[in-house]
This record gives sequence, structure tokens and C-alpha cells, in this order.
Amino acid sequence: MKILVTGGTGYIGSHTCVELINRGYEVVIFDNLYNSKEEVLSRIEKITGTRPLFYKADLRDTESMRPVFEDHKFDAVIHFAGLKAVGESVEKPLMYYENNISGTIKLCKFMNEYGCKRIIFSSSATVYGDPAQIPITEECPKGTCTNPYGWTKSMLEQVLTDIQHADPEWSVVLLRYFNPIGAHESGLLGESPNGIPNNLMPYIMKVAVGELPELGVFGNDYDTPDGTGVRDYIHVVDLARGHVNAVEKVTTTNEVNVYNLGTGNGYSVLDIVKTFEEVNNIRIPYQIKPRRAGDIATCYADPAKAKKELDWEAEYDLKRMCEDSWRFASQNF
Ligand code: NAD
Ligand code: WQD
Repeated sequence: MKILVTGGTGYIGSHTCVELINRGYEVVIFDNLYNSKEEVLSRIEKITGTRPLFYKADLRDTESMRPVFEDHKFDAVIHFAGLKAVGESVEKPLMYYENNISGTIKLCKFMNEYGCKRIIFSSSATVYGDPAQIPITEECPKGTCTNPYGWTKSMLEQVLTDIQHADPEWSVVLLRYFNPIGAHESGLLGESPNGIPNNLMPYIMKVAVGELPELGVFGNDYDTPDGTGVRDYIHVVDLARGHVNAVEKVTTTNEVNVYNLGTGNGYSVLDIVKTFEEVNNIRIPYQIKPRRAGDIATCYADPAKAKKELDWEAEYDLKRMCEDSWRFASQNF
């Protein structure tokens, strides 16, 4: 089976390509390299022995996308390509709506035109807003997003759902990721954030390599065991494996299916700091700062539906996530 992976040189996309190749799928990537490097292809080849076919193409640019669909007949598309910086999306909403929403609509038009109507979409737990229940099941109503990035995910879920309802030949899997961290055990693939990171683990890694002096912990007065925010951190390789299982689902059904991809465990900011320090023997100085606008106290998944219907569950624990994150950062930052 041949799978098109948009955004396949990015953080989650590259790990997913490795797992797809390991499971015998043929992989074609397109990416505009806005937030990733072509060198990732050699690294995927080093790990798997196979170099995926690559197109430098932009979701918003018909000219560059056309050859991708002209040259191949895809069994499914895994759609990672998009912008993901929450803070930036507040400052540049048009850029986010154009890239993520217009871009995805263009992609779907191509898929229609070339007769590939199966898509797995990277959504996010952010669509739950301040969740109505914990742990969060897929039945939990979608909420009010606190930033344009989150709205692009929520709106695109609706767009893809409407497309499938209008044309039942479409098959749509919406994967709502919780907080992906970690890296490939080889140290060859991981997340390399540009500039000052927004997210917790990339920030901790910048402190660990000495690029930033200390971590700011955003609030210690939440209604959580130690007062700091609680999240469901999931190893990126577990997440990648979830996509491979979802390929089977998307190619054998004609409906919309939604799955949470999380571990079901909630860890606080200080749990992450402590575990990172212990397993890697590095001190992470931190200071308590005011709450960050838009943050919620607690967010973790009920991953039972993915277990039942995708035969998937996360395997790696927090210790492993911290070890693998650090291996990548220490070799690549
Ligand atoms: P990433 O930035 O590492 O990967 C995204 C890739 O898409 C990049 O390589 C980028 O160059 C490419 N891209 C962006 N706009 C493009 C365009 N117009 N045309 C072609 N390529 C384009 O991000 P990631 O962490 O791997 O995230 C992958 C997907 O998962 C994104 O859609 C993101 O919103 C979603 N997601 C990420 C997280 C997270 O915490 N990392 C959580 C939930 C959902
Ligand atoms: C985690 C915890 C912070 C940084 C975001 C997006 C979400 C999804 C995943 C894409 C929170 C605290 C953080 C720091 C801190 N992405 N923190 N100091 O906010 O749960 O989710 O990434 O879809 O949409 O919103 O992740 O890593 O930013 O924060 O104390 O410097 O760490 O307050 O409790 P978040 P995060």
C-alpha cells in the first residue's frame, strides 16, 4: 500500500514514516520544509534502510502539489502538514487560517480529483477546550478553543466530517493527540524547535543544553496534586504506531472515526522536571511564574476507544520519554 504523508519531514511525520516503512508500507512525503529539514530523509533511511520519495511542495500551491498526485496512486493520506505554534497563531491568525484551513481544503480537492478519498488527520486534544470531563473520552463535547491554532483543528474536523457526509466514498480518521514528547531511540529523529520554545519538553531541553538559564513554571495554584498543570504526555513513537494502525481503519471503512491518542496518565509540570532530572542526571533550575493565558489545569485522555477499535495502546513510560528526548537534544541541539 502506498501512503502519502504530508508534513512527513516534521516531528511526528518523520517518526510515522519510520513505523510505516517498518510495517511494509510504501511512503511518499511532501513538505514545504518550513519547519523541518530535508536531512530527515537520510535519517529515516539510516533507521529503516529505505529513503522515502520526497516532494518539496506546499499545501497552498497547486503547481507544486500537482506532480505528487500525477505521479502516484495513493491508498491513503496521512495529513500532518500545518503550522502549530499556539502563541504565533494568536499574533498571525490569517497565516494560520490560510495555511491550515485553505491548505487542507486544497489537499482534499486534489484527493477528490485523483480518487483518493481516505484521510487520517492530525487533530489535537485542544479541540476539547476546557474539558467537560476527566479523563476525556471522544464523547466529550468539543469546547471553546483559546487560540486560532486550536480553532483550525476544530474547524478542520468539521470540514472533513462534512466532506465525508456529502460523499460516503470518503473515509476520515481524526486523531486527537495529547502531548507528544520523546524522540526516536537512535537519536536521529526528534523535535528541533526554532527560537524560544512554547512547549514544556522542548523548553526543558534548551535549559538542559545550557541555551536557556531556567524553566518558568506557569502557575502552581491549579487544583492539581502539586498545583502545576497536569497533561497526558505521550511518546512520539507510540503516537506514530497509532497512525499505522489507523491506516488499516481508514482503508477498510467509509465513515468518520475519532480517536484520542494519549496514555491515560496525567503528569504535572514538576513530575516532568523531576523525572527528567533523575533519569538524565541533569539539574533543571526553575522558577514559578504566573499562569499562562489560555492554559487549563488538567487534561488527560481516556484511550480505551483506540485500544478497542485500533488495537493500539501507548507502551513507553515517562522515564523513557525523558531519556529519549534528552538523547536527541544532546546529540542535535
Ligand atoms: P512539525 O512542524 O514538526 O511538522 C509539520 C510539518 O508540516 C513541517 O515539516 C512543516 O514544514 C510542514 N508544513 C507546514 N505547512 C506546510 C504547507 N503549507 N505545505 C507543506 N508542508 C507544510 O509539527 P508536528 O509536531 O510534527 O505536528 C504535526 C501535526 O500534528 C500538525 O498538524 C500539528 O498541528 C499536529 N499536532 C501536533 C501536536 C504537537 O504537540 N506536536 C499536538 C497535536 C497536534
Ligand atoms: C504543558 C504544561 C504549561 C511551558 C500545547 C497545545 C496543544 C498541543 C500540545 C498541538 C502546561 C506548562 C509549558 C513552559 C510551563 N499542540 N509549561 N512552562 O499547552 O498542554 O498543549 O501543545 O496541538 O494544542 O496547546 O502543552 O507543552 O505548552 O504545556 O510551565 O515553559 O507545561 O503551563 O501546564 P499544552 P505545553
